[in-house]
Amino acid sequence: MSTVAKRQVKFHDYAPTGSDFLAEVVEGLSRVPKKISPKFFYDQRGSELFDEICLQPEYYPTRTEISILQHNARQIAALIGAESVLVELGSGASEKVRVLFDALSPASYMGVDISKEFLLLSTRRLAQDYPELEVHAVCADFSQQLELPVQAQRGQVVAFFPGSSIGNFEPTSALQFLRQVAACVGKGGKLLIGVDLKKDSVILNRAYNDAAGVTAAFNLNLLQRIQVELAAELELDAFHHQAFYNPEQSRVEMHLVSERRQTIMLDDEVFELTARESIHTESSYKYSLDEFARLAGKAGFAVEQVWTDPAKMFSVQLLGVH
Ligand code: AVI
Repeated sequence: MSTVAKRQVKFHDYAPTGSDFLAEVVEGLSRVPKKISPKFFYDQRGSELFDEICLQPEYYPTRTEISILQHNARQIAALIGAESVLVELGSGASEKVRVLFDALSPASYMGVDISKEFLLLSTRRLAQDYPELEVHAVCADFSQQLELPVQAQRGQVVAFFPGSSIGNFEPTSALQFLRQVAACVGKGGKLLIGVDLKKDSVILNRAYNDAAGVTAAFNLNLLQRIQVELAAELELDAFHHQAFYNPEQSRVEMHLVSERRQTIMLDDEVFELTARESIHTESSYKYSLDEFARLAGKAGFAVEQVWTDPAKMFSVQLLGVH
């Protein structure tokens, strides 16, 4: 087994094969209503578009979470303790974790993401900027199975799951996922998690319908992936982006709406869409602090500390396995 040279990223590939993408899209288009998992947004282009979403003035979660982390980095570090194995789930551009590094001094960092090129790029950058840090890149669909390389067993594991990505899980899957994280970090382990909070629907609707159209491009990029990578026959221009807050379900829903009656041909199957029929591509659940504490408790976590911004738009929470 190779050792990790400083400044080099050790890569671990548990990436799903292309056939998972095809099988899941075929299954999703066969459902009523039609649905495709948001995890497929994140190819190289999708990850870049997501980074751009985070810079939009309407999309408050990213800047609010970063400011919470900046304001409380010392206290967070004190509660976590030094020399941990910091495992970032859905690490993307690995930007937020940088806010913690100076205060935290972890023994090693493991970025886990489904988007391979993006993961390699950002972990390499990180390894350059923090030459003393042991950096691992784990390409995996952690929403299915959370499998970590053995190196993660060499210290107290602290998982970092920022961005309120937990909101993209259906509540039952969120519970399952949190249970897996609890098992993965083990007794005494912790999870530092970003959780978006319930708020006025006007703010939410704006956040997912930015004026520059970046969220729309992000949503439509999924169809382009299906067209290019899965050789589907479909008409991109005959779909538009739709996003709205659904108060009954406490979630923002994103859809791709068909502008007319049409068909998608994929893998020798024909999927019919009526005019205005939608493909549900993402749910982004919003929690109250109490609701999230109950969910975490069911998964075996106790909430140790909650930090929020003054307007209580977003929360960063430290959970410990009890
Ligand atoms: C990654 N995730 C938490 C984002 C969210 O807000 O649900 C994805 C996103 N979708 C549209 N805008 C951002």
